[in-house]
Amino acid sequence: MTDHRWHTPEAYDKATTRLQQRNASMVARLHPRPDTVRRAYELGCGTGALTEELLGVLPQARITALDVSAEMLRRARDRGLPQDRVEFRLGSFLDEGGADGHDRDAGSPAGAVEGRYDAVFSNAALHWLYPEYSRCFTRIRRLLAPGGVLCAAMAGRTAAADAFDRRIEEATRAVLPPGDRADFNRRRTTDAQVAELAGASGFSVEDVFLVERHHTMSAPAYATWWVASGGPWSTDRPEEHEAVATLTEALGGVGAEVELVHASTFMVLRA
Ligand SMILES: C[S@@+](CC[C@H](N)C(=O)[O-])C[C@H]1O[C@@H](n2cnc3c(N)ncnc32)[C@H](O)[C@@H]1O
Repeated sequence: MTDHRWHTPEAYDKATTRLQQRNASMVARLHPRPDTVRRAYELGCGTGALTEELLGVLPQARITALDVSAEMLRRARDRGLPQDRVEFRLGSFLDEGGADGHDRDAGSPAGAVEGRYDAVFSNAALHWLYPEYSRCFTRIRRLLAPGGVLCAAMAGRTAAADAFDRRIEEATRAVLPPGDRADFNRRRTTDAQVAELAGASGFSVEDVFLVERHHTMSAPAYATWWVASGGPWSTDRPEEHEAVATLTEALGGVGAEVELVHASTFMVLRA
């Protein structure tokens, strides 16, 4: 199974209310005809924020929700969502034998069957599939029934987000390995890039747009959010409290503030 970097679901929920949960709420409302969706697939459901939103927005849908992190799924299951409408599955969307167009049974890691879904939803997960974007979009398109829709948001690239990443990279130069410092920026996509990926994977673009948010937050709050959301270490990750302390110090200490730029590319793509 593909390795993953998520291990702090409680901190994730606490630290991400204003950003990811707001994005989840927006993604849930992107579908042009929510009343028509009977089978939905969610990629990278995490602690279930989007899953719960979808239950409210899609009155008829049964949802298969996948995540690669057992810890995040445990918290999603703890929400107590109705089992006749939601099935949580553990697995990586990129694993072979998963949602690659050859699935015939629901026992595959991704729990997905080609051509079955009216809609696929995803919030803040697609960028973790970098550099496999092309394979991933093609897999999603194959999961959809003809005319099915992908509604998603992933890390977006804007000039301000790039400048923010550069500031953070400079500030953390002394405490992070070079490859890890630049890791997240590589994953960002522009609206034009998503439109190109969509076309190459057999989608038509109904909408693609960027949302950029600016938040001033304390250095410890930013460090906590960063670590809970995947963090900058791809190997040899320190313990959570140590990672937060190291980043806080690098960002100027407990009294410092961070001008966070958060950019997301939203998309509505039709198979
Ligand atoms: C930032 S969280 C977003 C969670 C949730 N969608 C939300 O809106 O709060 C990204 C999630 O993607 C999951 N993820 C990363 N790579 C994945 C993969 N290859 N297959 C399935 N899930 C993956 C992570 O485990 C994590 O829970």
